[in-house]
Amino acid sequence: MKNILHYSNKNIGLLGLGTVGKAVYDEIFTNISSVLVKNLTKSRNIELSNVKITNNFQDILQDKNVETIIELIGGETPAYEYIKESIKSKKNVITANKEVMAKYGKELLELATKNKVFLLYEASVAGGIPIISPIIKDLSANEFKSVRGIINGTTNYILTKMSRENLELIEVLKEAQDLGYAESDPTSDIEGFDAQYKISILSRLAFNSDVSLDQIYLEGISSIKSKDFDYANELGYTIKLLATASINSNELLLVKVHPALIPNDVPMASVNGVLNAVEIDGDLVGTLWFQGAGAGAKATASSVLSDLIRIRNSDVQSIVNHKKTYKITSMDKHFCQYYLRLNVSDKPGVLASIAKEFGERNISISSVLQKDLYENGSADLVIMTYPSIEKDMQASIKKITNLESVFNIESMIRVESYK
Ligand code: NDP
Ligand code: HSE
Repeated sequence: MKNILHYSNKNIGLLGLGTVGKAVYDEIFTNISSVLVKNLTKSRNIELSNVKITNNFQDILQDKNVETIIELIGGETPAYEYIKESIKSKKNVITANKEVMAKYGKELLELATKNKVFLLYEASVAGGIPIISPIIKDLSANEFKSVRGIINGTTNYILTKMSRENLELIEVLKEAQDLGYAESDPTSDIEGFDAQYKISILSRLAFNSDVSLDQIYLEGISSIKSKDFDYANELGYTIKLLATASINSNELLLVKVHPALIPNDVPMASVNGVLNAVEIDGDLVGTLWFQGAGAGAKATASSVLSDLIRIRNSDVQSIVNHKKTYKITSMDKHFCQYYLRLNVSDKPGVLASIAKEFGERNISISSVLQKDLYENGSADLVIMTYPSIEKDMQASIKKITNLESVFNIESMIRVESYK
């Protein structure tokens, strides 16, 4: 689908010519006036003779032809400054930058309104899946009860491979990087920051509430081992990095990102590889399901270019502000089942001592698997609890960690409820 804009104006400035930048360039090169990169001497294997290429942002800003700037550098600095300067210079901006939109979105969107330019960012959440525009536009009549999903392609690719091929995280990460899915620093994917930025953006849109990053509970996938998939599977579950924003019975908003046990028989369990999925619950529409490629050059370019077409058609709608706002609640009161994998001494009475600590806080055990026996006399003990309150679980974990017969609590994964 080349030359989607079907006009000959060279009025676009492109910042970044990496995985996504190259895919965007490839589709609309005839409309691009100038391109910013970091390293001018890098070999790029693309025809660049008809554009100005520079490593100085001021060249793009001062290019009189440029009306719209597409930011595909990533990271906070200098992308934030470049977006801000572009808006102040009355240029429309399109960005795929979730970090900037999570940290500075409110400020930048207000600045764009003040300067009467567009700031669009569909590609910043869930790659190729249209999710921002539907929330702002097509679903604006709804009050939302929850938004939850798999919104990081890299970790979903890694978890899927770990589950299917019995590999460990470190063995699969390089593949996700080679495929262009990972952030330039993949810690952002693995430790969940990328998903945290994205759920912060979705929370602002769906719940009309500013959720700062420190109000979002965060755990990444680095403690998950391939054997957790085997044990989870025996219990009827798989493991996904889930981001959720939901309104509780006290009308408070809880926003969190953590690995979760997902029942094998719900659709979220079958979202595999680089696919992302977002499930939205609206008071009028009920549950809606969006699924597609959450990362990758072309899928992300699809979102970027759709924003460009929206600007060309002036088909842009700002957030409907009739919606109520919500106070944010902390993780302490969250109520769910828990999966724990402990490395314990293979002696009688271990389970009884653990059950006693749980019992002190009214936490009941629903099932137990005793697994791999190691040469050092330790064994894996997998425990699934009945639903309990997070604060009680954390207190129990502290006590159990100190038991002589417990060498280590190696993983604690929350079970997502689909009732
Ligand atoms: P890459 O790392 O592949 O590309 C980054 C580009 O930005 C490179 O061309 C690099 O230049 C340029 N760049 C980096 N720093 C600077 C700087 N200081 N000044 C000028 N240019 C700079 O990133 P991606 O294409 O993967 O990602 C771009 C954005 O899209 C990010 O915000 C990312 O989160 C987002 N995104 C990415 C997706 C994906 O699947 N990759 C999916 C959805 C969103 P040089 O080539 O000279 O090194
Ligand atoms: N690194 C991100 C991911 C890119 O893996 O989802 C898409 O935002």
